[in-house]
Amino acid sequence: MTEAILLVGGKGTRLRPMTVNTPKPMVPAAGVPFLTHQLARARAAGVEHIVLATSYLAEVFEPYFGDGSSLGLHLEYVTEVEPLGTGGAIRNVASRLTSGPDEPVLIFNGDILTGLDIRALVETHETSGADVSLHLTRVEDPRAFGLVPTDPTGRVTAFLEKPQTPEEIVTDQINAGAYVFRRSVIDTIPTGRPVSVERETFPGLLADGAHLQGMVDSTYWLDLGTPQAFVRGSADLVLGRAPSPAVPGRCGDRLVVAGASVAPDAKLTGGTVVGAGATVGAGARIDGSAVMAGAVVEPGAVVTDSLVGEGARIGARTVLHGAVIGDGAHVGADNELRDGVRVWCGARLPDASVRFSSDQ
Ligand code: GTP
Repeated sequence: MTEAILLVGGKGTRLRPMTVNTPKPMVPAAGVPFLTHQLARARAAGVEHIVLATSYLAEVFEPYFGDGSSLGLHLEYVTEVEPLGTGGAIRNVASRLTSGPDEPVLIFNGDILTGLDIRALVETHETSGADVSLHLTRVEDPRAFGLVPTDPTGRVTAFLEKPQTPEEIVTDQINAGAYVFRRSVIDTIPTGRPVSVERETFPGLLADGAHLQGMVDSTYWLDLGTPQAFVRGSADLVLGRAPSPAVPGRCGDRLVVAGASVAPDAKLTGGTVVGAGATVGAGARIDGSAVMAGAVVEPGAVVTDSLVGEGARIGARTVLHGAVIGDGAHVGADNELRDGVRVWCGARLPDASVRFSSDQ
C-alpha cells in the first residue's frame, strides 16, 4: 500500500488575512477544513498512511484530525523547528516512512484541489521506472507557475520557474503539486537546511541524469493559494464540479452546514456555503461565497465571490464583491467593498464609510 506525505507547513501569505489565525490547509472549504478533502481523496485512492509535514501554526492539525482513524487513515505529524521549504519538509519526515528503498511515496502540496487520478500517477511511475513522477496540468497563462516541458514519451526535459518573455513559454504544462518519489530519492535530499523541491531538488536531479516522468492529467485542478481561487474552489466543491468524498451534505447550489440559520427569503446561490452557527438575515443574497462559522450577514446584504471569516459581521445592505473579510471583523451597514479588498481580522468599519460608487 502506497504511503503519502502532505506538505502543510507554508505561511499562506497570499491568502492573508484568512491565514492569520488558521494555516491555509485548515481554512474551511465547503464547510470543512480544506485538508479534509485531500485526505479523503487520498484514502479513496487506497492510501492509508499519511505523514503531515507541519510548520506554520503546526499545533492546530493534530487536535482536529487526531490519529486519522475517523477518516480510515493512520496519520502522523512532524513539525519543523524552522521552516525547511518543500524539499526540506519532505526530507524531514523521511524517518516516519515505512516503504522500502525502491517503493513509491506520494507527495502532495496541501493547497491543491484536483480530480487527479492518484492511482494512475502511481501506475505511470511504476511502468516508466522513473525516479520521480509529477502530475502536470495545462493552463492558459503559465506565467505564475513552474513550466515542465516533456519529450514525446512524457520524460521531463527541463524545469523553468515563472517564465516571463514569450520565448521562455515553451509549454503550457505546469507542475501541479503532486509527485511520486522513489523512496531512496527522498533520502538524497540534504538535511537540516531549507530546500525547495521545485527550485533545487528537481533541477538538480535532472542535471544528474535522473529519470523524471510527467503525467498530464487535465481534470479539475486549482491552486487555492489566493482568496479568489480559494472561494472558487469552495464553490466548486459545493456545486460538485470539484470531486471530494468529504463535502458534508449533498452537492448543489448551496450548502448550509448544520447549526447555521438562514432566513427563509435569503437567496444562496453559486455554490455558497454557510458554516456552523452562522446567521443570514432576511432578503440577503449570497452568491459563490463562503460564510465561515459563526459569521453574521445582516438583512439585505449582497455578497458575491467573497470570503467572510469566522465570527465576522456584515451589516445590513452592505455589498461585498470579491472581498475578503477577516475573522471577527465588523463591516457596518451600507458599505460597498469590491475588487479584492481585504479587511483585517477584528477590524471595525463604521456604517456607510466605504463605497466604490456614488451613494446618490
Ligand atoms: P504563499 O506564502 O502564499 O506562497 O503560500 P505557501 O506558504 O503555502 O507556499 P506554497 O504555496 O509555495 O507552498 C506549497 C505547499 O508547500 C503548501 O502546501 C505549503 O503548505 C507547503 N510548504 C511551503 N513551505 C513549507 C515549509 O517550509 N514547510 C512545510 N512543511 N511545508 C511547506
